[in-house]
Amino acid sequence: MAHAQHPIPVTARRTGLLRGHVRVPGDKSVSHRAMIFGLLAIGETTISGLLEGEDVMRTADAARALGAIIHHDGPGAWRVRGVGVGGLREPKGTLDFGNAGTGSRLMMGVCGAHPITTIFDGDASLRKRPMRRILDPLELMGTTIVSQGEGGRVPLTLRGPREAVPIVYRTPVASAQIKSAVLLAGLAAPGETTVIETEATRDHTETMLRHFGAQLVSTPEGAHGRRIVLTGQPELQAAPIVVPADPSSAAFPLVAGLIVPGSDIVLESVMTNPLRSGLLTTLREMGADITVESEANEGGEAVATLRVRASSLRGVEVPPERAPSMIDEYPVLAVAASFATGTTRMRGLQELRVKESDRLAAVEAGLRAAGVTCAIEGDDLVVEGSGGTVAGGGTVATHLDHRIAMSFLVMGLATQAPMQVDDGAMIATSFPSFIALMNGLGADIG
Ligand code: S3P
Repeated sequence: MAHAQHPIPVTARRTGLLRGHVRVPGDKSVSHRAMIFGLLAIGETTISGLLEGEDVMRTADAARALGAIIHHDGPGAWRVRGVGVGGLREPKGTLDFGNAGTGSRLMMGVCGAHPITTIFDGDASLRKRPMRRILDPLELMGTTIVSQGEGGRVPLTLRGPREAVPIVYRTPVASAQIKSAVLLAGLAAPGETTVIETEATRDHTETMLRHFGAQLVSTPEGAHGRRIVLTGQPELQAAPIVVPADPSSAAFPLVAGLIVPGSDIVLESVMTNPLRSGLLTTLREMGADITVESEANEGGEAVATLRVRASSLRGVEVPPERAPSMIDEYPVLAVAASFATGTTRMRGLQELRVKESDRLAAVEAGLRAAGVTCAIEGDDLVVEGSGGTVAGGGTVATHLDHRIAMSFLVMGLATQAPMQVDDGAMIATSFPSFIALMNGLGADIG
């Protein structure tokens, strides 16, 4: 169902330096998958460090509606008793995913391959996002699209086949959501389901499939791709999950630490999976002072404690093949680029047009509102760095997009005049403690 949210304008003001030691909340991608695998496993999955943002709570609600029994034991600590692959219950009502693209698309893969009827819906942002990319492979696997919004959008109704058909599927765009939906559907199909991707995308679904006992083989394909072969109809066994800190959330205090003069902050145990680390690579190329204090492994993922000190950045060209490893970080990278010396060209950003908002357009408008010179050239975003002084003083339209809101609030901590975003409500989808955490470092956001 679409929600009428009350807009909450939020302002960020230039303050002195940022200092302190923080841990950002659990990774959103891993948290959605933890709930989904908990649902699909036999036995009780215990989760620690779960992101308790609105998006993940929608996925938890959907898992409950499909038969999981879920207990919340304390901050980040959850238990999910699953129904097993093939054991889903038909939900009584609509599965309302709110703003959550990942939750809805992955659950379409799960539900579309089971012999049940499910209705998917979401907020005004989700209702604009393309779902054909998920429906196309599902139809090949035997799912019936009973009804759909214009162009294959939610609200839509799926009816799964008695037994799903395994397929070999080449993803048409680099998308972990498409890959994951097909693999999750493949769990219910006999034989091997294969996904081929030309550019490797985040591999949390593959890691979790193995962790829960599925047989999966992933091999390199071409220069940057993967071929993933899953053996269907496994009995997934409940397994403990430790959710590491979200690098996409860490990106906000990280960039703030770089652009607010004199800052020196420590970000504890951030996931450094190479398929999520494109922003770190890019910022280091720009001259960012980011050092690794310590490294560890949390729940099968590499993590690092990062020390970030304010830095003079220089513009760079970001190659298109890096996009999957930093797809959610371009808005805040564009903010960093505004304070750099020289031009930053971010290439191959077509997928940004179909995120929670059209992020290419939203970033361009926001940068202009702050007095930054920028342009969209084809699928590239070009930002002319100011060399350190950005006017600010504008109001940014967030279009129900949490990352647009957080990016421009980070910007306002270093602009001459404050930056306002028209609505901070959506920040709760991925980083509910964002304002408190930033203000704890010395920011002035409110
Ligand atoms: C996600 C994949 C990405 C990313 C999203 C989370 C995931 O989307 O933008 O925030 O958890 O699989 P695409 O795979 O569609 O690029």
